[in-house]
Amino acid sequence: MARAAPKPQGLAPAPPCTLVVFGARGDLTKRLLTPALYNLTHERLLPDGFRVLGVDHNVEDDASFGQNVESFLRTLVGNAASEADEGGLDRGRWAWLRHRLGYLTGDFEDPATYRALAARLASDGGKGQGAIFYLATSPRFFGEIVRQLAKAGLTDETDGFRRVVIEKPFGQDLRSAKALNALLLKRMDEGQIYRIDHFMGKETVRNIMALRFANAVFEPIWNRDNIDHVQITAAETVGVEDRGGFYDQAGALRDMVPNHLFQLLGMVAMEPPNSLGAEAIRAEKARVIEAIEIQTPAQALANSVRGQYRAGQVGGKSLSDYRAAQNVAKTSHTETFVALKLSIDNWRWAGVPFYLRTGKAMAARDTEVVIRFKAPPGKLFREGGSPAPAANELVLQLQPQEGISLAFDVKQPGEDMSLAPVRMDFRYADYFTVESATGYEPLLYDVMIGDQTLFKKADEIEASWRAVQPFMTAWSKGGVLHSYAAGANGPPQADALLARDGRSWHEVGP
Ligand code: BG6
Repeated sequence: MARAAPKPQGLAPAPPCTLVVFGARGDLTKRLLTPALYNLTHERLLPDGFRVLGVDHNVEDDASFGQNVESFLRTLVGNAASEADEGGLDRGRWAWLRHRLGYLTGDFEDPATYRALAARLASDGGKGQGAIFYLATSPRFFGEIVRQLAKAGLTDETDGFRRVVIEKPFGQDLRSAKALNALLLKRMDEGQIYRIDHFMGKETVRNIMALRFANAVFEPIWNRDNIDHVQITAAETVGVEDRGGFYDQAGALRDMVPNHLFQLLGMVAMEPPNSLGAEAIRAEKARVIEAIEIQTPAQALANSVRGQYRAGQVGGKSLSDYRAAQNVAKTSHTETFVALKLSIDNWRWAGVPFYLRTGKAMAARDTEVVIRFKAPPGKLFREGGSPAPAANELVLQLQPQEGISLAFDVKQPGEDMSLAPVRMDFRYADYFTVESATGYEPLLYDVMIGDQTLFKKADEIEASWRAVQPFMTAWSKGGVLHSYAAGANGPPQADALLARDGRSWHEVGP
């Protein structure tokens, strides 16, 4: 198999800056942010004047924080592979990063924390050193931290840039998202705000743009004349794990749809941007999300299916009932699966349904977009009772393996003219060295260099909530919560949602 040339190393290290992580002892910092920083040292994209300052309420110092980060990184990178490695960590790279890690003990609601932070930033960094405030905390602190940063003068950009990164969930509904946007925009410019969605850091998500706009073959057929419908699936095998407290309040819709699934929808459905510049791409993505039809309560009930998993087997392992999970209410009515039918009311997509589904405890891990084309017209091949040719299908797979495949019909060998479906498969791993990455690497680097392309603007966030609000409102007043056994692909009603339109879901799994 031909392998591609190594990717050009055209990127320059980011400018000197301090990354201040609020929630430094939390799960996100441990599992994703610090591994991503370690990976970035490999690519030599972090500047010499780089610092990380963890802030959290746990009493710690620089040394113990560094020790904690190191222990976890060791569990991630595995055993030593070469002389340069020490317990799997590259000695040189880890020493470089370790030397730059610091810690500040502080309560997020106490003004003294911000005074100490200002003093620490002034003493650690040089003049003109930029600062990034990463809010890896519970969402209830987002507004308060920004208020306190502004009050302490820490959002003022006279001595270097000041940027804030806000994690998801950005609000719990349209009203709270608007209130949070208003609070932020009162204290900072839109250009200082980075609303993050880690799906935008995934290679394949950005590759959807390359597929569509760097190949002239697809765009002419990417519309309602040729496409029958689109499916977007994010199936997970895991249950709620130890996140019951958060998840039981959120549910599958809030957790995955207006954020991750809409990023995929945006990339698949947006108009070609005028350039690859941040404003051009963000504007097109927001525009198509704004075009999602707002459903009436009755339509929302008819076009949605909610499910909650019961005990079952996933990949040969037993998973207990969702309601038995830690911090989940015994009578919980929170959905762990959701399927929706949406329409996009614009020239390109009028009449093309977009079916979305996501769930926990499903049969296989599979995140994919399926473009199902229209069947060929006319009676050719259907004569004499032969089955109609299968519709062409383009599958863009994000997880577990990244790839693209196209299904089409060929003639079966033999005397008669009968058809058989085949697939043309492309796997990224066959052509490129696919480095293991968390998805946060490009996003962190982009915040450092001030590129907002992969981050959401206020209008996109609000349009996303506006589109899902009718479902939340309708469910709060009624609608059935179905159950499904762990290991099934949601309740059977999810299949019926497509079957009533004469369609079926693409099979979950590779
Ligand atoms: C998170 C959700 O944002 O995304 C989780 O809160 C979900 O519930 C996760 O498991 C999925 O991300 P990925 O990258 O593992 O597909």
